[in-house]
Amino acid sequence: MSVSQTRRVRVAPEASGFGARITGVDLSQPLDPRDLEDVRAAWARHAVVCFPGQPLSLDALEAFTLQIGPFGKDPYIEPMPGRPNVLELRRQPDEKASNFGAGWHSDWSFLETPPAATLLRAQIIPPVGGDTLFVDASRAWDALSDAMKAVVAPLQAVHSARQSYGTKGVFARDTEARTMKIIVSEEADSSLTHPLVRTHPVTGRKALYISPVYTVGIEGFTPEESQALLGFLFAHLTREEFIYRHRWTEGDLLMWDNRCTMHFAEGGYDGHLRVMHRTTVQGEVPV
Ligand code: SIN
Repeated sequence: MSVSQTRRVRVAPEASGFGARITGVDLSQPLDPRDLEDVRAAWARHAVVCFPGQPLSLDALEAFTLQIGPFGKDPYIEPMPGRPNVLELRRQPDEKASNFGAGWHSDWSFLETPPAATLLRAQIIPPVGGDTLFVDASRAWDALSDAMKAVVAPLQAVHSARQSYGTKGVFARDTEARTMKIIVSEEADSSLTHPLVRTHPVTGRKALYISPVYTVGIEGFTPEESQALLGFLFAHLTREEFIYRHRWTEGDLLMWDNRCTMHFAEGGYDGHLRVMHRTTVQGEVPV
Protein backbone atom coordinates (compact mmCIF):
# COMPACT_ATOMS: atom_id res chain seq x y z
CA MET A 1 0.00 0.00 0.00
CA SER A 2 1.43 3.39 -0.90
CA VAL A 3 1.04 6.21 1.57
CA SER A 4 0.68 9.66 0.05
CA GLN A 5 1.96 12.66 1.94
CA THR A 6 0.58 16.13 1.28
CA ARG A 7 3.30 18.67 0.64
CA ARG A 8 3.60 21.13 3.52
CA VAL A 9 6.03 23.62 2.00
CA ARG A 10 4.25 26.51 0.29
CA VAL A 11 6.19 28.68 -2.15
CA ALA A 12 4.93 32.10 -3.27
CA PRO A 13 7.24 33.42 -6.00
CA GLU A 14 7.72 37.10 -6.76
CA ALA A 15 5.98 38.11 -9.99
CA SER A 16 9.32 37.98 -11.84
CA GLY A 17 10.11 34.48 -10.52
CA PHE A 18 13.29 35.89 -8.89
CA GLY A 19 12.76 35.64 -5.13
CA ALA A 20 10.03 33.77 -3.24
CA ARG A 21 8.43 33.47 0.18
CA ILE A 22 8.35 30.06 1.78
CA THR A 23 5.80 29.18 4.45
CA GLY A 24 4.48 25.96 5.93
CA VAL A 25 7.71 25.01 7.71
CA ASP A 26 8.98 25.55 11.24
CA LEU A 27 12.73 26.12 10.94
CA SER A 28 13.26 25.88 14.69
CA GLN A 29 12.87 22.09 14.25
CA PRO A 30 14.85 19.82 11.92
CA LEU A 31 13.04 19.62 8.57
CA ASP A 32 11.94 16.21 7.41
CA PRO A 33 13.66 15.06 4.20
CA ARG A 34 10.74 15.88 1.88
CA ASP A 35 10.34 19.39 3.28
CA LEU A 36 14.07 19.93 2.99
CA GLU A 37 13.96 18.73 -0.61
CA ASP A 38 11.12 21.18 -1.37
CA VAL A 39 13.00 24.04 0.29
CA ARG A 40 16.13 23.22 -1.71
CA ALA A 41 14.13 23.05 -4.95
CA ALA A 42 12.49 26.43 -4.28
CA TRP A 43 15.86 27.97 -3.41
CA ALA A 44 17.44 26.63 -6.62
CA ARG A 45 14.54 27.94 -8.67
CA HIS A 46 14.09 31.39 -7.10
CA ALA A 47 17.65 32.09 -5.79
CA VAL A 48 16.51 34.34 -2.91
CA VAL A 49 13.99 32.83 -0.52
CA CYS A 50 12.39 34.44 2.52
CA PHE A 51 10.99 32.44 5.42
CA PRO A 52 8.77 34.97 7.24
CA GLY A 53 7.90 34.62 10.92
CA GLN A 54 10.86 32.47 11.95
CA PRO A 55 12.33 34.15 15.04
CA LEU A 56 15.07 31.54 15.32
CA SER A 57 17.47 31.28 18.24
CA LEU A 58 21.13 31.35 17.21
CA ASP A 59 21.31 27.60 17.91
CA ALA A 60 18.38 27.04 15.54
CA LEU A 61 19.92 29.30 12.89
CA GLU A 62 23.13 27.25 13.05
CA ALA A 63 21.20 23.97 12.96
CA PHE A 64 19.12 25.02 9.93
CA THR A 65 22.26 26.25 8.13
CA LEU A 66 23.84 22.82 8.67
CA GLN A 67 20.78 21.18 7.11
CA ILE A 68 21.59 23.11 3.93
CA GLY A 69 25.31 22.25 4.07
CA PRO A 70 28.54 22.66 6.05
CA PHE A 71 29.44 26.15 7.26
CA GLY A 72 31.42 28.33 4.88
CA LYS A 73 34.52 30.31 5.76
CA ASP A 74 33.89 33.93 6.80
CA PRO A 75 37.14 35.90 6.59
CA TYR A 76 37.93 39.46 7.74
CA ILE A 77 35.04 39.84 10.21
CA GLU A 78 35.24 38.82 13.86
CA PRO A 79 32.47 36.30 14.54
CA MET A 80 30.20 36.36 17.59
CA PRO A 81 31.88 35.26 20.83
CA GLY A 82 31.57 31.48 21.17
CA ARG A 83 29.96 31.19 17.71
CA PRO A 84 32.72 30.99 15.12
CA ASN A 85 30.22 30.58 12.28
CA VAL A 86 27.83 33.43 13.07
CA LEU A 87 28.42 37.09 12.21
CA GLU A 88 26.42 39.77 13.93
CA LEU A 89 25.72 42.65 11.56
CA ARG A 90 25.00 45.37 14.08
CA ARG A 91 24.84 49.10 13.47
CA GLN A 92 24.12 51.32 16.44
CA PRO A 93 21.76 54.33 16.13
CA ASP A 94 24.65 56.79 16.57
CA GLU A 95 27.02 55.03 14.18
CA LYS A 96 28.32 57.20 11.34
CA ALA A 97 30.40 54.56 9.53
CA SER A 98 28.89 53.20 6.32
CA ASN A 99 26.65 50.16 6.81
CA PHE A 100 28.15 46.73 6.16
CA GLY A 101 27.54 45.36 2.67
CA ALA A 102 26.89 48.78 1.09
CA GLY A 103 28.14 47.87 -2.37
CA TRP A 104 27.10 45.26 -4.94
CA HIS A 105 28.83 41.96 -4.24
CA SER A 106 28.49 38.20 -4.11
CA ASP A 107 29.73 36.97 -0.75
CA TRP A 108 33.46 36.22 -0.50
CA SER A 109 33.86 35.65 -4.26
CA PHE A 110 37.62 36.16 -3.76
CA LEU A 111 37.84 32.74 -2.04
CA GLU A 112 38.74 29.60 -3.96
CA THR A 113 35.44 28.08 -2.83
CA PRO A 114 33.05 30.96 -2.20
CA PRO A 115 29.90 30.23 -0.16
CA ALA A 116 26.95 28.72 -2.00
CA ALA A 117 24.40 30.18 0.41
CA THR A 118 24.17 33.04 2.85
CA LEU A 119 21.47 33.02 5.54
CA LEU A 120 20.48 36.29 7.19
CA ARG A 121 18.09 36.52 10.11
CA ALA A 122 16.43 39.82 11.00
CA GLN A 123 16.65 40.46 14.75
CA ILE A 124 16.06 44.22 14.95
CA ILE A 125 14.85 46.13 11.90
CA PRO A 126 14.88 49.92 11.70
CA PRO A 127 11.54 51.68 11.02
CA VAL A 128 13.00 53.21 7.82
CA GLY A 129 15.63 52.04 5.31
CA GLY A 130 17.81 48.96 5.65
CA ASP A 131 16.42 47.06 2.63
CA THR A 132 18.60 44.49 0.88
CA LEU A 133 18.63 44.47 -2.92
CA PHE A 134 19.43 41.44 -5.07
CA VAL A 135 20.38 41.07 -8.72
CA ASP A 136 19.40 38.04 -10.77
CA ALA A 137 22.73 37.37 -12.50
CA SER A 138 21.30 34.43 -14.49
CA ARG A 139 18.64 36.58 -16.08
CA ALA A 140 21.27 39.27 -16.73
CA TRP A 141 23.35 36.66 -18.56
CA ASP A 142 20.33 35.45 -20.55
CA ALA A 143 19.58 39.03 -21.65
CA LEU A 144 22.98 39.62 -23.28
CA SER A 145 23.20 39.39 -27.07
CA ASP A 146 24.72 36.23 -28.51
CA ALA A 147 27.65 38.33 -29.74
CA MET A 148 28.38 39.68 -26.24
CA LYS A 149 27.92 36.21 -24.72
CA ALA A 150 30.59 34.92 -27.11
CA VAL A 151 32.98 37.67 -25.95
CA VAL A 152 32.54 37.19 -22.19
CA ALA A 153 31.95 33.41 -21.90
CA PRO A 154 35.63 32.37 -22.17
CA LEU A 155 36.96 35.12 -19.85
CA GLN A 156 38.41 34.75 -16.36
CA ALA A 157 37.58 37.51 -13.89
CA VAL A 158 40.08 38.58 -11.22
CA HIS A 159 38.60 38.66 -7.71
CA SER A 160 40.19 40.21 -4.62
CA ALA A 161 39.17 41.44 -1.18
CA ARG A 162 41.68 44.29 -1.45
CA GLN A 163 39.23 47.14 -2.18
CA SER A 164 37.44 46.33 1.09
CA TYR A 165 39.73 44.51 3.54
CA GLY A 166 43.19 45.15 2.02
CA THR A 167 45.88 47.37 3.51
CA LYS A 168 44.73 50.28 1.33
CA GLY A 169 41.07 49.27 1.25
CA VAL A 170 37.93 51.03 2.40
CA PHE A 171 38.07 49.63 5.94
CA ALA A 172 41.80 50.47 6.37
CA ARG A 173 40.87 54.09 5.64
CA ASP A 174 37.78 54.05 7.86
CA THR A 175 37.94 56.86 10.39
CA GLU A 176 34.47 56.46 11.89
CA ALA A 177 33.81 54.13 14.84
CA ARG A 178 32.15 50.85 13.88
CA THR A 179 30.54 48.20 16.09
CA MET A 180 31.46 45.30 13.81
CA LYS A 181 35.09 44.20 14.15
CA ILE A 182 36.64 44.22 10.69
CA ILE A 183 40.03 42.59 10.16
CA VAL A 184 42.21 44.47 7.66
CA SER A 185 44.91 42.18 6.33
CA GLU A 186 47.75 41.86 3.79
CA GLU A 187 46.22 38.55 2.77
CA ALA A 188 43.25 40.50 1.44
CA ASP A 189 45.55 42.20 -1.09
CA SER A 190 45.94 38.90 -2.98
CA SER A 191 43.75 37.88 -5.91
CA LEU A 192 42.58 34.83 -7.86
CA THR A 193 40.51 34.17 -10.95
CA HIS A 194 37.09 32.60 -11.49
CA PRO A 195 35.17 32.14 -14.74
CA LEU A 196 33.37 35.38 -15.55
CA VAL A 197 30.37 33.27 -16.45
CA ARG A 198 29.68 30.36 -14.12
CA THR A 199 27.29 27.45 -14.41
CA HIS A 200 25.00 26.68 -11.49
CA PRO A 201 25.72 23.15 -10.25
CA VAL A 202 22.03 22.39 -9.57
CA THR A 203 20.05 24.21 -12.27
CA GLY A 204 22.71 24.20 -15.01
CA ARG A 205 21.90 27.88 -15.70
CA LYS A 206 24.71 30.27 -16.53
CA ALA A 207 25.18 33.51 -14.59
CA LEU A 208 27.52 36.50 -14.71
CA TYR A 209 29.86 36.01 -11.76
CA ILE A 210 31.38 39.41 -11.11
CA SER A 211 30.74 42.35 -8.77
CA PRO A 212 32.00 45.91 -8.38
CA VAL A 213 33.22 45.22 -4.82
CA TYR A 214 35.31 42.09 -5.43
CA THR A 215 36.02 41.90 -9.18
CA VAL A 216 39.13 43.98 -9.87
CA GLY A 217 39.93 43.03 -13.47
CA ILE A 218 39.75 40.56 -16.31
CA GLU A 219 42.67 38.23 -16.93
CA GLY A 220 44.76 39.29 -19.95
CA PHE A 221 43.01 42.68 -20.28
CA THR A 222 44.67 46.04 -19.62
CA PRO A 223 43.17 47.97 -16.68
CA GLU A 224 41.43 50.28 -19.17
CA GLU A 225 39.96 47.36 -21.12
CA SER A 226 38.83 45.65 -17.90
CA GLN A 227 37.22 48.85 -16.67
CA ALA A 228 35.34 49.36 -19.93
CA LEU A 229 33.93 45.82 -20.15
CA LEU A 230 33.27 45.43 -16.42
CA GLY A 231 31.67 48.88 -16.33
CA PHE A 232 29.26 47.83 -19.07
CA LEU A 233 28.49 44.51 -17.34
CA PHE A 234 27.94 46.11 -13.91
CA ALA A 235 25.51 48.62 -15.44
CA HIS A 236 23.77 45.78 -17.26
CA LEU A 237 23.52 43.61 -14.11
CA THR A 238 21.98 46.38 -12.04
CA ARG A 239 19.18 47.19 -14.48
CA GLU A 240 15.87 47.60 -12.68
CA GLU A 241 14.32 44.50 -14.26
CA PHE A 242 16.91 42.18 -12.68
CA ILE A 243 16.47 43.51 -9.12
CA TYR A 244 14.48 42.16 -6.19
CA ARG A 245 14.24 44.47 -3.17
CA HIS A 246 13.75 42.78 0.17
CA ARG A 247 11.91 44.92 2.73
CA TRP A 248 12.63 43.29 6.06
CA THR A 249 10.22 42.33 8.81
CA GLU A 250 11.55 41.12 12.15
CA GLY A 251 11.62 37.33 12.20
CA ASP A 252 12.42 37.04 8.48
CA LEU A 253 15.09 34.55 7.57
CA LEU A 254 16.50 35.09 4.08
CA MET A 255 18.62 32.57 2.22
CA TRP A 256 20.28 33.55 -1.05
CA ASP A 257 22.39 31.82 -3.63
CA ASN A 258 25.73 33.56 -4.11
CA ARG A 259 26.40 31.58 -7.31
CA CYS A 260 23.82 33.44 -9.36
CA THR A 261 23.09 36.69 -7.49
CA MET A 262 24.74 39.86 -6.20
CA HIS A 263 23.36 41.88 -3.31
CA PHE A 264 23.57 45.34 -1.80
CA ALA A 265 22.65 46.44 1.72
CA GLU A 266 20.95 49.81 1.53
CA GLY A 267 21.44 52.32 4.34
CA GLY A 268 18.97 55.11 5.10
CA TYR A 269 18.43 54.24 8.78
CA ASP A 270 20.81 56.57 10.62
CA GLY A 271 19.55 57.10 14.15
CA HIS A 272 18.09 53.58 14.35
CA LEU A 273 19.44 50.22 15.47
CA ARG A 274 19.70 47.35 12.98
CA VAL A 275 20.79 43.86 14.11
CA MET A 276 21.06 40.83 11.82
CA HIS A 277 22.70 37.42 12.20
CA ARG A 278 24.45 35.77 9.29
CA THR A 279 25.81 32.34 8.44
CA THR A 280 27.15 30.92 5.20
CA VAL A 281 27.16 27.49 3.59
CA GLN A 282 30.28 26.26 1.88
CA GLY A 283 30.18 26.22 -1.93
CA GLU A 284 32.28 24.69 -4.67
CA VAL A 285 35.03 25.93 -6.99
CA PRO A 286 33.14 28.00 -9.61
CA VAL A 287 33.10 26.46 -13.10
C1 SIN B 1 25.51 41.50 3.53
O1 SIN B 1 25.48 40.32 3.88
O2 SIN B 1 26.19 41.89 2.58
C2 SIN B 1 24.66 42.50 4.28
C3 SIN B 1 23.22 42.33 3.98
C4 SIN B 1 22.37 43.20 4.85
O3 SIN B 1 22.79 43.60 5.94
O4 SIN B 1 21.23 43.48 4.46
